[in-house]
Amino acid sequence: MIIIGSDHGGYQMKEAVKLFLKEEGIEFDDVGTYSDESCDYPDIAKNVALKVAKSGQKGILICGSGIGMSISANKVNGVRCALCHDAYTAEYARRHNDANIIAFGGRTTGLEIAKQMVKIFLSTDFDGGRHKRRIDKIASMEGL
Ligand code: RB5
Repeated sequence: MIIIGSDHGGYQMKEAVKLFLKEEGIEFDDVGTYSDESCDYPDIAKNVALKVAKSGQKGILICGSGIGMSISANKVNGVRCALCHDAYTAEYARRHNDANIIAFGGRTTGLEIAKQMVKIFLSTDFDGGRHKRRIDKIASMEGL
């Protein structure tokens, strides 16, 4: 189960990504927003981030640029939200950073790239090893 959310800047992209997830047979929980009407990205990022942190599932966050969503989601303990732009960043967000949320921009990313990134992000494992030590150091900064 993938937790997905966007603000108005990412709404059209979220709807397109949902169609792709359906085609791929991947279930999702859409926490909003549910229209093009203006809303505040931290509200959506918080809802997705809390569900991801609690459930251990992965999440997808989309705003205009992906920046506001990634900044916001990373405030929640246990969340590692990666702002991705291409197949490489999506792959290494998983392999090296064990990211549990992918963020990208609905206004900056083409749909085919977005679909490619989502597929890679959801199917790539964490490499572990030396990267685990670095992830633990990130966790040690929570609450500073
Ligand atoms: C909304 O206009 C826009 O600021 C938001 O979608 C996002 O890009 C912020 O980082």
